[in-house]
Amino acid sequence: MAKQLSTRVAIVGSGPAGLLLGQLLFRAGIDNLILERRPLSRVLARIRAGVLEESTVRVLEEAGVAERLHREGLVHDGIEISVCGERRRIDFATLTGKHVVIYGQTEVTKDLVAAREAAGLPILDEARDVLPVDLESDRPKVLFRRHGEEFELACEIVAGCDGFHGVCRSRIPAERLKTFERVYPFGWLGILAHARPVSDELVYAYSERGFALFSMRSPTVSRLYVQCDPNDPVEAWPDSRVYEELAARVGSDLAARLERAPSVEKSVTQMRSFVAEPMRFGRLVLAGDAAHIVPPTGAKGLNLAAADVAVLARALIAFLREGDARLLDRYSDVALARVWKAERFSWWMTSLLHKFPEGDPFRDRLQRAELEYLFQSEAMQKVLAENYTGLPLALS
Ligand code: APR
Ligand code: PHB
Repeated sequence: MAKQLSTRVAIVGSGPAGLLLGQLLFRAGIDNLILERRPLSRVLARIRAGVLEESTVRVLEEAGVAERLHREGLVHDGIEISVCGERRRIDFATLTGKHVVIYGQTEVTKDLVAAREAAGLPILDEARDVLPVDLESDRPKVLFRRHGEEFELACEIVAGCDGFHGVCRSRIPAERLKTFERVYPFGWLGILAHARPVSDELVYAYSERGFALFSMRSPTVSRLYVQCDPNDPVEAWPDSRVYEELAARVGSDLAARLERAPSVEKSVTQMRSFVAEPMRFGRLVLAGDAAHIVPPTGAKGLNLAAADVAVLARALIAFLREGDARLLDRYSDVALARVWKAERFSWWMTSLLHKFPEGDPFRDRLQRAELEYLFQSEAMQKVLAENYTGLPLALS
């Protein structure tokens, strides 16, 4: 006999989307419970991107978890684009009046978990065989197993915040779900190293040898990426090779500043664009990577998850407090309108800055023309700046 539990919102997944939703609901007085497949220690150790839009910072403020971010986050007023060694600064402040904040997703996750623990709210980690059921009724349930025991969690809403490989999206019948996907013929090999960043701002580099990105977590920690074959094992990339490629893909002045400190983390990411529509099925709602993936070039993954959650939290609060379903009924359309614009931008920035392996000469010439145009045209720089710093967050 399964043990019975109940809550108002059952949140599946304790990534940034699930944790942030839990916190916003908690602050509105709405009881919620998070189920997470992995041990929490693993969730807290994951290294992901680290660029926050101003609107993401505002949502984190609303959730009451922005104090350390304001203290330790690095405010960046621009980025640099390097094309075959020649650099151009994209000045966000002048072009848009906006900035971004460099603060690792790992840190965002830690702050959210600390806030949840301080509030005494549970995260049931190591939850196995999580299965949302009865989603078309108004009494959905989530079945799961934990430490050998079976549970049945009764709720009013199931929030699928369980990432791209989660279970929730698969609970929507195939005929009710449309998916869109593009898999790119390259990946990113990323390292983290205790080394001074080569520049004060992020440098995105196009070169004939492929893309490279010089990012950072702090004034003493660099996060560095090189375009690689998506099937490359990390063993194919000893630090010496990573640093040689980084140096070869950027101008000699920055190459000379590259501190070749040993990597403390190394991983390969496949580049993918993906959207599932709609983001709701009965009492199941999807948010974050469970519904959409972007390639990391535009740094939009975490920002999109935060935007989804900002819209969703308002919709759920109206629904669960006042029985008003209007915002909930619009959630998928409102979220997807923003998602598709970020998909477009991430696809564009990825296509602009990577070397495509198949060798289509016409495509290559267009790409070079577009890069030249970006360097010459303030209008084009403004388009990049306004998308990178984040389009306005419409909540309904
Ligand atoms: N049951 C319970 N939990 C699950 C299940 C499952 N069946 N499947 C996945 N999960 C958990 C994962 O272990 C993970 O902790 O759901 C969480 C999903 O978190 P993320 O993948 O971080 O997704 P999301 O919260 O949407 O974050 C979006 O973070 O991961 C980045 O690239 C992503 O930047 C984007 C942002
Ligand atoms: C990172 O710092 O990890 C990072 C920054 C910008 C990106 C992607 C990743 O576009």
